[in-house]
Amino acid sequence: MNDTDTQEQEVVVQDTDNVVIRIQHLKKSFDDNEVLKDINLELHKGENVVVLGRSGQGKSVTIQCIAGLMLQDEGSLEVLGKEVKEMTRDEIREMRIRVGFLFQSGALYDSMTVKENLSFPLTRVLKLKDKQEIEKRIHESLESVGLEDAIDKYPSDLSGGMRKRVGLARTLILRPEIMLYDEPTTGLDPITSREISELIVALQEKYDTSSIIITHDMSCARITADRIVVMNEGKYIATGTYDELTRSPDELVHNFFK
Ligand SMILES: Nc1ncnc2c1ncn2[C@@H]1O[C@H](COP(=O)(O)OP(=O)(O)OP(=O)(O)O)[C@@H](O)[C@H]1O
Ligand SMILES: [Mg+2]
Repeated sequence: MNDTDTQEQEVVVQDTDNVVIRIQHLKKSFDDNEVLKDINLELHKGENVVVLGRSGQGKSVTIQCIAGLMLQDEGSLEVLGKEVKEMTRDEIREMRIRVGFLFQSGALYDSMTVKENLSFPLTRVLKLKDKQEIEKRIHESLESVGLEDAIDKYPSDLSGGMRKRVGLARTLILRPEIMLYDEPTTGLDPITSREISELIVALQEKYDTSSIIITHDMSCARITADRIVVMNEGKYIATGTYDELTRSPDELVHNFFK
């Protein structure tokens, strides 16, 4: 008798619980460098989660796996209800439109003006042809980061903070549902850094996105986080609000909040 033949197929009702990213037991090594040992995380709709952790702990590797830029060795990673490793190439492409990624470096094209940098994802990724629609979207996204005057400038003519804003505008122009920020304030002075952090919160409210924000900048963490997770040696070792973690008895966690 074959059990599986006679068993009624159970209808699996996916309990999404407003979870937009679900990571379970994620593992990733590079040769014998075991970087992610057991990562577990749920990101809920509308939530901003900040990931803290010392350099080289695998924070960037984690979000590269989420964006489908790197494949995990083990574990499950669901983005917007779908397992990333099971996605077809087209599904990955579609997912990357719905999930915006602000790279650690900003990654603007230096030989293109701000306007050209912003029209690139619209024409290349979304394949938009309507010139008016393209113009409208460019102006709208520059307005949302307060940089309309920079439209014809080249990245080299902009300050670090302005380049971050353009990077943000270029990611937002695809109207993502989830934003992944890799150190959005690194290299900025405290005041500009604060402005960018406040902008992240304002944009999250305006577009109703959910975000994962990797940062070393505690002021950015305090401003942006609904919840913070602390990463160490390939695992998340603590989670809580900024205030909760400030009172953590764990020395490693405590060190971040000193
Ligand atoms: N493509 C790769 N090939 C081999 N090793 C890699 C690769 N990407 C990352 N690593 C290694 O994985 C580890 C974690 O790197 P990752 O960039 O995720 O650290 P991080 O926590 O983001 O650090 P930082 O705060 O400095 O940005 C490092 O030891 C790094 O050398
Ligand atoms: Mg990194």
